[in-house]
Amino acid sequence: MRSRISKAIFPVAGLGTRFLPATKSVPKEIMTLVDRPLIQYAIDEARAAGIKEFIFVTSRGKSALEDYFDSAPQLEQELKRKGKDDLLEILRSTTMDSGAIAYIRQQKPMGLGHAVWCARRLIGDEPFAVILPDDVIAAEKPCLQQMVEAHAEVGGNMVAAMEVPTAKAASYGLLDVAEDMGALVRMRGMVEKPQPEDAPSNLAAIGRYILTPSIMRNLNRIKSGAGGEIQLTDAIAEEVRRSDNVYGYRFRGQRFDCGSKAGFLQATVAFGLARDDLCEEFGEYLRDMMAIPAAAQ
Ligand code: G1P
Repeated sequence: MRSRISKAIFPVAGLGTRFLPATKSVPKEIMTLVDRPLIQYAIDEARAAGIKEFIFVTSRGKSALEDYFDSAPQLEQELKRKGKDDLLEILRSTTMDSGAIAYIRQQKPMGLGHAVWCARRLIGDEPFAVILPDDVIAAEKPCLQQMVEAHAEVGGNMVAAMEVPTAKAASYGLLDVAEDMGALVRMRGMVEKPQPEDAPSNLAAIGRYILTPSIMRNLNRIKSGAGGEIQLTDAIAEEVRRSDNVYGYRFRGQRFDCGSKAGFLQATVAFGLARDDLCEEFGEYLRDMMAIPAAAQ
């Protein structure tokens, strides 16, 4: 029996400059898809995968995140008084148990690898998950749960993966594939944000990882890489050099890049249409919108 994955790291220290001016005072992770902040989708996915300890790597200006997960007695009282039990229920689902959540500060923006490394003492000597809340994945079975199940079979290190157009290589960590087994691929390397001509494949890492503590040890040693930052990709590539059980996992689901404006809008449309209380009105609006250019021709 492989060890259970009970801890997850959420790197949320980024400044979110692509969403300025919104992110001047609101952490990007609090921005909402319909009516739930990005971070709530990530937390729900982690919970579904059996995660019990949530480690946030934050930075200055992110205190709204801490408030979001705290209890809100005044609001609760008010909803109780008005008999709004449905809203009360929603509100309570956002509160994290004391001791289940920890915040660590990444004091300098030194990259994703550095952010993960900041949580090393809380991780200790057990495998852990990493979830990048920018990558929102709509799936029947949540992506991390799919990975935890696959990991129970093969162990090692695992990166969520998805085919992307070669022209987009410079936006991703790209996997070098040694053996393609369908959903699982065995890796022989990984390169962070290569130029398209240098991409080892068009299989890109997406923001879900299951990693062993040896990745933390690699992060202790590696130097800055792409973009002058300490890259998680480089620590994983280092691991591949020493072991043959580093995998990519082609998850089933649709990924939205909510770190980009276009991706965020696409996710808003998809999640809006998926909601029972909105799909009719919103769907009708979209159909009308789509009909306008056709009618004009
Ligand atoms: C990060 C990782 C990259 C991965 C991507 C997925 O990049 O460094 O390897 O492909 O997330 O979203 P970022 O998008 O934070 O620049």
